[in-house]
Amino acid sequence: MIGRGSAVLAAAILAGSSVLLVRPAAAAPPGPGQQQQQEKRPVAEGYGGAVATVDLDASKAALGVLRRGGNAIDAAVAAAATLGVTEPYSAGLAGGGYIVYYDARHRRVHTIDGRETAPKAMRPTSLEGIPFDDAVTSGLSAGVPGSVAQWELALRRFGTLSLGEALKPAIEVASRGFTVDQTFHDQTASNAARFKDLTSTAKLYLPGGALPAVGSTFRNPELADTYRQLGRRGGSWLYGGRLGAEIVATVKRPPVTPGSTRTVRPGLMELSDLAAYRAVERAPTRVTYEDNDVYGMPPASSGGSTVGEALNILQALPRVGVHEYLEASKLAFADRGKYVGDIPGVPLRQLLSEGFAKERACLVGERAIPAPAAPGDPDGSYGPCRAVPPESQKPTPAEGPETTHLVVADRWGNVVAYNITIESTGGNGIVVPGRGFLLNNELTDFTFGPAPGDPNLPGPGKRPRSSMAPTIVLKNGEPLLAVGSPGGSTIITTVLQILVNRWDFGMTLPQALAAPRATQRNTAQTQAEQGFIDRYGPELTARGHSLVLNPEIGAATGLEFLGGGRVQAVAEPVRRGGGSALVVSGHR
Ligand code: DON
Repeated sequence: MIGRGSAVLAAAILAGSSVLLVRPAAAAPPGPGQQQQQEKRPVAEGYGGAVATVDLDASKAALGVLRRGGNAIDAAVAAAATLGVTEPYSAGLAGGGYIVYYDARHRRVHTIDGRETAPKAMRPTSLEGIPFDDAVTSGLSAGVPGSVAQWELALRRFGTLSLGEALKPAIEVASRGFTVDQTFHDQTASNAARFKDLTSTAKLYLPGGALPAVGSTFRNPELADTYRQLGRRGGSWLYGGRLGAEIVATVKRPPVTPGSTRTVRPGLMELSDLAAYRAVERAPTRVTYEDNDVYGMPPASSGGSTVGEALNILQALPRVGVHEYLEASKLAFADRGKYVGDIPGVPLRQLLSEGFAKERACLVGERAIPAPAAPGDPDGSYGPCRAVPPESQKPTPAEGPETTHLVVADRWGNVVAYNITIESTGGNGIVVPGRGFLLNNELTDFTFGPAPGDPNLPGPGKRPRSSMAPTIVLKNGEPLLAVGSPGGSTIITTVLQILVNRWDFGMTLPQALAAPRATQRNTAQTQAEQGFIDRYGPELTARGHSLVLNPEIGAATGLEFLGGGRVQAVAEPVRRGGGSALVVSGHR
């Protein structure tokens, strides 16, 4: 786990299922760069609006917008753009994401899909035979960016600010700079080998050939200028205009450092792909768990369907413990793999039906189901248990810890849960020369193939299947929770585990986020954090589970609505250096 300098604010100590938040006594007075860390708190409670992100500058950007009278959508866009500055290896204007939004006035949940798309020239075989690691750093893996179109659509439909106004806090942070923390330093270090092979990236992130030092100030005036122009010119500057042309040129001819031996494959993106891009409003997924209505992202994300199916399976079981949590997740992932992708006819209603969940739940017994479990048959006709033989083992997909999730609520009761990503830590590693931002490598989320019948093969204009699962929960029509996480396909299990922790294991939301995690994604081994292995290892091993260490799973954020207008904003106390929760006012 990476701590940010010496001022990690809180450590979670687990005793059984209860979590104690321990604040170390303040040491010496703050030095340069430490002031920010001292302001960073993982939990805040109050009124008039709230935000939680992984980063203090981004949370402050959102809070400033809320204080000036902006609403939750305005603040979410401001925070996301600021994360493009301070968390540029996880988020940015050339990435994509998903917003789940509760509109308080109309008491309705909406979603906005800003997922990247494949260029028109992409075919099901376009990624076949390409080593995954080569695709990671390539023009070929860059999807048509969705974030800017998503910001514009979100602001137009539900916001009050113009794009230019919403970008102001990010421009300010990019111009004045932010303090380099241990996480930023370490993420740059882990990318240094490829960053140095790309001239524009080395220039920005390895200035003078060195890693940015912890405690130093990192400025990105080129990104400030890009945001400024974007605000003035609007999204069409990217979607078919000059900025778009520069993105296409970079994708087609990545700026490889002379003398580098790295093969950086060119991409297929054309300006017409950018001009054709649209962010899309989609109906959310919905399941009811106990009395809670859980809303999530529909396909091509698998977030809403997989979290939802697993909750339905748990609800069909007589008891819910950690064994059942892992088994429900295993079965839901089997179905995700077979049925979910950006294709017509995903059997979403059936995947989220009670009948299908009951049929799947009856496979859960005293001992772990051998993994990988076979998918079920969501055909609408459900009877007694259908025994399913295990499938042959497929390789476990590699999942990075990055991407980011933020939550915002405003004084009117509107709520945003927002996942934003450029896929790998550092995206495809290629900065658009002179523009200050990295390109995404989201198209590595496609199945590379050959894989006949796989719903997630690449195709023209297709959106790669995602695991992002921004989630909003209503109870009796009122917001109760908002939650989400980074972490590739572990996002699904992190969101599920937080909900199970909150509802079935009796934890508070801060405890539910801090508690050690495990992730079962229909693989023979269940990855788990050390605290989880220590607590549950013997019990689960005796029931046929095999646990393997994953040092850190999912730096999540969440909100809980406590009644009477009081909101609890929650970020991580420790993971990824700890996040930042802020509220507009401590008092009504
Ligand atoms: O959409 C997804 O599910 C991923 N591209 C998100 C990326 C992520 O969380 C980092 N890990 N690979």
